[in-house]
Parts: sequence; structure tokens; C-alpha cells
Amino acid sequence: MNLTIFRPNFRKLVVGVDTKVPLGDGREVTSINLDNAASTPPFVSVLEEINNFSPWYSSIHRGTGYKSKLSSDFYDYSRSIIAEFVGANSNEKNVIYVKNATEGINKLSYRLLEDYGDGVILSTFMEHHSNDLPWRTKYKIDYVQVDNKGRLSLDDLEHKLVKYRGKVKLVTVTGASNVTGYTNPIATIAALAHEYGAKILVDGAQLVPHAPVEIKNSLDPEHLDFLVFSAHKMYAPFGAGVLIGPKDTFAKGVPDYSGGGTIKMVTHDFISWADGSEKDEAGTPNVIGVLALVQAIKILKNIGMDNIERYEQNLTEYALRKLKKIKDIEIYGNCQDSKDRVGIITFNIKGVDHRTLANILSLEAGIAVRNGCFCAQPYVQRLLNVSNKDIEKHMANPHLPHPGMVRISFGLYNTYSEVDKLAQILADVADNKKIFLKKYQDTSEISLAQNIGRWSIADSP
Ligand code: ALA
Repeated sequence: MNLTIFRPNFRKLVVGVDTKVPLGDGREVTSINLDNAASTPPFVSVLEEINNFSPWYSSIHRGTGYKSKLSSDFYDYSRSIIAEFVGANSNEKNVIYVKNATEGINKLSYRLLEDYGDGVILSTFMEHHSNDLPWRTKYKIDYVQVDNKGRLSLDDLEHKLVKYRGKVKLVTVTGASNVTGYTNPIATIAALAHEYGAKILVDGAQLVPHAPVEIKNSLDPEHLDFLVFSAHKMYAPFGAGVLIGPKDTFAKGVPDYSGGGTIKMVTHDFISWADGSEKDEAGTPNVIGVLALVQAIKILKNIGMDNIERYEQNLTEYALRKLKKIKDIEIYGNCQDSKDRVGIITFNIKGVDHRTLANILSLEAGIAVRNGCFCAQPYVQRLLNVSNKDIEKHMANPHLPHPGMVRISFGLYNTYSEVDKLAQILADVADNKKIFLKKYQDTSEISLAQNIGRWSIADSP
């Protein structure tokens, strides 16, 4: 297959693709953002929509003015757009707006407390801390293993469902790993979880922006009970996120946060909680953040999630082919093909610390990546074969350089020529380690303070 055939131009849809950034020597180049797994820039039309809507924005669910009613109507209606985007049945599920996926998981972790008694939560070895720590601090938890390439072991999942038969209340799993980019077979995992009487939560933060996701009807054994995702990873970075789950789960119990907007009636003797999602959205809702998300979803749907998935997979396959040729590179996880993954690749170059390499990419080529453990330390430790002894050494001496990797992650607007530029600078570093290390050994904590003058911060009183 010729991977270079499908080259749609999505660049014009995205803000900031032509922004110039300074290099270490003061020259300016067009920035290359390969850190979309952390956060994406906004779509142009998301900003336009915010501007267009702002004159009509007003307090929601509380005001009687025309603008208030308009804003309230939009906000209430928006839930059906979100539900439809991920194939959720609005009669069965609440679409709850939160800040981001992390807040969604935390919210759910509190909400399930009442029902879980001596139950077990099955998380996995490949989770982001956000899909581990909120559970770990409240429940008995066990972790489904990964194989030596970092792929989730479905055999171990089934083994653990059998081992804790009847006690596993929730299987909580990422849709796609923010470290290796692996996508998990969530429909198969859902069916397995349901077979053993457990529910499933999918952390969709890294999946929903890159591939079609279907929650499905609750009669389907492959349905997802809960799904979370973040707007800031899907071209709408204005503080909105989504938690979707069965209405009856949220009808019961007390919300984690309570206050304005969460009740029908209150006296000093009783509280009658609001129906539906409002019960879980204390305080004035983030209407503009939701507007941004809805607009981003319109764009994503227009392009087609299948097309986005295909383009990003082709780009990933191209990048893998290029990166594999670089001397002394170690690529983690699957470095053979773009199947069953999103556009995330992690690597190291032998003899170059991951922090130094990430800084070189920025200072020599204007390429933004992320390095370290990506808030998934247990998974990265596993992939890097970091032993418990090593961890003890690091705990005892915080000055030791931390193990880690460099990560690139694609958005739909990244291009083949950006990958070429990345491969070129990486090859240069690998071929001329001594020169680069001499120049950049001490740059792990580069201060950009001198550049803050570009922004009004420097002009503030
Ligand atoms: N979870 C985000 C990442 O992986 C922030 O970079």
C-alpha cells in the first residue's frame, strides 16, 4: 500500500499551525506540535462559534431574560449531540458535564462507593494515573496484566474475572493508551465484563478524538456502561469534559459536589435532588466550554471519525517506518504497524536522556513533544524494565535522573513533512550524539522567562 496517497488538508481547520516559535539560537521556525495526546489546539470554527455566541451568552437555568433562555436551551439540547456522537441512548444515559476525563473518573469513583461493599475494581497495568488513583484510594483494586510488548492481556482479564467471580463490580480500562497508543478491544472487554456481572468504564480521553466510539444500547452485551472524555484533547480546549453513565446510577445517592443547581427542593430537614445530569453539575455550568465541544464534534463528524482514524494511522505507519531507521532508537510497544493503535509513538535514543532529547527537538527544530512517564508511571516502568530496586533508589535520591521516554502524538492536522523534519533531527542527534550532548547536557530545565514578554503578562501592573 502506498501510504502517502491519502493526504487530506485538515490544517486550515486548526488554530496556530503556522505559529513561529524561537529556536535556541534565536531564529524562528514554524512550530510543529506533536503533543496532541496532552492537548490539542482549538479548531478555527470553535473560536468563531465562541465569538458568535458570546453576545447571546447569559446565566443559565436561573435567568428569565431571552439570552438566559437561549443559553439554557442550547446547554440542555447539547447533551443529545454528545450522546449521539458516541452512540449513547439518551433515554438510558446521563450526559454529565465535568472539567475533563480525570474529573469524570473521580466523580464516578465517589458515586459508586455506596454500592460496592466488598467488591473489586479491575483496572489495568496500562492506565493513566487518572484511571488508577481515584479507584485505588477507595476500593479493593487489582490490575490486569500486559504482555512484554505492553498489550493488555485478555487472558489475564478473564483469569481475574474468574478469580474474583461475582465480586468484580467494575472493569475500568483505557480506550487507547497515552503511552503506546494501543487501542483496547473495548467491545470484547465489555462483553467479558458483563458475562461476569461487572460493569465497564472506558477512559476515552485518548480514543474519542481519534476513532469512532459506540456506547451502544444496554441490551447489547458489548455496550459500555460508562465513558469519559476531555474536550481539550479534541480541538475545544475550553474546560469541558464528559462523563456518560446509566441514569439509575446517578439517580441514587448523593453527588460528590453539591450546591447551586443540584436540587429540586431544600429545607433544613431534607434535600430533594434534581433529576438527571443537573444533580451532578454543581455551580454555574461551563456553557462556553460545552459550546466549544459541540462545535468541535460537528467538525469531527463532518470529516468523519473513520477518515480521521485512517489518516492518523497512515501517518503513524509512515512515522514508524522513518523512526525505525534511526540509529540507536528504541521504540516502545508495537513498532511494526499502525493497526489497533492511535497516533502515539514513544521512544528513546540510547545514550541521550529523554529530557535532553525533548529539549533538543524544541530548541533545534521547534518540535513540541512530551517526555517522562506521561502520568502512567507503572506502565512506563514496565515497558522500561525498571525494577523495584531502581524505584527505591530514586525514592532515596530525588536528584537521580528519572527514567522516561519521549512521546510524539498526532492530531488530524499533522503532516508527513512534519514527520520528515522530526526524523531528520532525530537522525542528526543519533549520528552526532557527542556534539549535541555537549551543547544541551544542561538544558533539562530551560527557562522561557525571557519570552514571556511576547505576552501581556510582562505588561501587567
Ligand atoms: N494525559 C495527558 C497526556 O498523556 C495529559 O499527556
